[in-house]
Amino acid sequence: MPPSLLAPFLFAALLAIPFPLAAQDDGRVAVPMPDLMRAHMLGNMRDHLLALQEIQGVLAAGDYDAAADIAEKRLGMSSLQSHGASHMAGFMPEGMQATGAAMHQEASRFAVVAQEAAVTRDLSRALGALSRVTAQCVACHAAYRLK
Ligand code: HEC
Repeated sequence: MPPSLLAPFLFAALLAIPFPLAAQDDGRVAVPMPDLMRAHMLGNMRDHLLALQEIQGVLAAGDYDAAADIAEKRLGMSSLQSHGASHMAGFMPEGMQATGAAMHQEASRFAVVAQEAAVTRDLSRALGALSRVTAQCVACHAAYRLK
């Protein structure tokens, strides 16, 4: 076969090999979830990221009360109902549920620290509490993916 005909096959082979490996074998536990549930969860995730960005914005502006409000309503214990958390939890392995619960708890803790910071103006303490929220995002993403 002339090299010009061989090239597309080689290219296809190159594409075919690495992608399945990257998707299936990166050490994370793949969690099966029905399509609707999966779409719902990823939508929640994008709102989590948006909430973090909004929190950073209001913290930078010194509006600690707004930071507390966003954290509690969108990430904290008060967000569980609106996120349909109880439905989704049933599809998650125990460790994933625990990390999710820890994230909601840390977000509610951050909300309390942010309210205190509205009086003390202690930005450093507020940022420390916020990083304990994002630590839970990082921990779950490192361990699990959706199938
Ligand atoms: C309990 C586990 C868990 C926690 C906690 C968690 N995530 Fe996720 N997140 C996931 C999983 C699983 C995926 C899908 C990853 C995959 O399949 O590769 C995901 C995906 C995402 C995505 C991609 C959304 C898309 O449309 O594809 C974003 C953005 C995201 N998470 C943000 C966050 C942020 C920000 C936090 C913390 C405030 C967070 N997540 C906390 C499990 C979690």
